[in-house]
Amino acid sequence: MVKANENYLRLQGSYLFSTIARKVSEYTAAHKDQADHIIRLGIGDVTQPLAPKIIETLHGAVDEMADAATFHGYAPDLGYQFLRDAIAKEYTDRGCEIRPDEIFVSDGAKSDSGNIQEIFSEDAKVAVCDPVYPVYVDSNVMAGRSGDWDPAKNCYKNFIYMPCTADNDFIAEIPKEQPDLIYLCFPNNPTGAAITKDRLQEWVDYANRVGAVILYDAAYEAYISDPSLPHSIYECDGARTCAIEIRSFSKNAGFTGVRLGFTVIPTDLKAEGGVSMHDLWARRHGTKYNGAPYIVQKAGASVYTPEGRKQIEGQVAYYMRNAKCIYDGLKDAGYTVYGGVNAPYIWLKTPDHMTSWEFFDYLLSELNIVGTPGSGFGPCGEGYFRLTAFGSYENTKEAIDRIVSKG
Ligand code: MLT
Repeated sequence: MVKANENYLRLQGSYLFSTIARKVSEYTAAHKDQADHIIRLGIGDVTQPLAPKIIETLHGAVDEMADAATFHGYAPDLGYQFLRDAIAKEYTDRGCEIRPDEIFVSDGAKSDSGNIQEIFSEDAKVAVCDPVYPVYVDSNVMAGRSGDWDPAKNCYKNFIYMPCTADNDFIAEIPKEQPDLIYLCFPNNPTGAAITKDRLQEWVDYANRVGAVILYDAAYEAYISDPSLPHSIYECDGARTCAIEIRSFSKNAGFTGVRLGFTVIPTDLKAEGGVSMHDLWARRHGTKYNGAPYIVQKAGASVYTPEGRKQIEGQVAYYMRNAKCIYDGLKDAGYTVYGGVNAPYIWLKTPDHMTSWEFFDYLLSELNIVGTPGSGFGPCGEGYFRLTAFGSYENTKEAIDRIVSKG
C-alpha cells in the first residue's frame, strides 16, 4: 500500500491560523447571538479596499485581456520585466545593488518563504527565532529537517531555536550551534520588533563567515517609521553573498486576496561547490510555477507609481493609527506591550499569568475579540499574545475599549 510522506506526520496539530479559524467558527456556531459582535484581530489580514490607483490599473489590465491584440497568456515564469524593473529601481533608490534579473515574482511571500528551503540540502541545519512565523518551521518539518518533536521542550530536536524575549528586545542572538539556514523576519512577525542596521550587519557578517544563508522576510518593511532602520538586508555590506530576501504586496498594498510577492536572490550567492542558488531557484520556479497573472503584476507595478505610492502610504498610516490605538490603550490599562511602532503587530504579556490560549479563550468568550496566542508561534511565545493593527479603526477602537473597560 502507498505510504504517506512521514515528515508530514511530525507536524504538530494544524496550521496555527487554521486552528484559530476553526475555534472561532465553533464558538460562533454555539453562540449565534454573538457572531456579529466578534472583532477579528487575529490573522494579519488587511481590511481596507485596494487603493484607487490599483483598482484603476486592474480594470485597465482586465480590458487588455478582452482584446486579442493585448491579451496575455502564460506570464514569464520569473515575472514580467516591467514589474521586475520597478522593484529593482526601488532597491537601487535605497542604495541596494539589486538587478531586475535577481528578482523572482511570485504569488506571495507565504509561498516563497515555505518553498525556498527546497533548494537547500536535506540535511541543512535550520535556525529559527522563537517565537516565529510558523511557515518557516512547518515547511522544514515537511522537508524532513526537523527530527522528532520533543514534547517536553515543545520543539523539534534538530532545529536551532533562537529565543527572542523581552530581555534581548526580541532580537535573536547569534546561536552557539552553527546553522546553515537562518530565518530572520524584520519588522518581526509576531513580536513587532525591528532590527537596527548594525545588528543586522552582525548577522550578515556572521553568515558570510560561517557560510550560512539568511532567509530574510521583509514583508512588513513598509511599516518602518524610524528612518534609521534598514528596509532591506541588502543595505548591509556583504549581504549579496549570504542573503535571500522575501517581500510581499499583501501588507503594504492590501494584496492578501490578490496574491503577489517576490524573492530576491543575488547571483553572488553561492552554495558549496560554487552552486548558484539564483539558478536553482530559477530552475525550480520554471518547473513548478507558471507566473503570477498579468493583471496582478500590472496592479503590482502601479504600487510604484507616484500616485500608487501616495495612496499606499495613506493605508499604512491608517493601520499604524490602529497600532497606536492598541499600544497606547493597553499600556494605559496596565498591560505590558511591545511592537506596534515599526510594525503592524502588538505583542503583549497576558494578564494574571494566563497562558496564551487561556487569554485567547477569555477574549473570545468574554469580550468577543479574536487574537493570536503567542505560544502558537513557539515556546518562548507562551504567556504572550498578538493583536494585529489590520482591522478597521472603528473595530480596533471598540476592541480596546472592551478590553480596557473590563479592567
Ligand atoms: C499572520 O497573521 O501572521 C500573517 O497574516 C500570516 C501570513 O501573512 O501568511
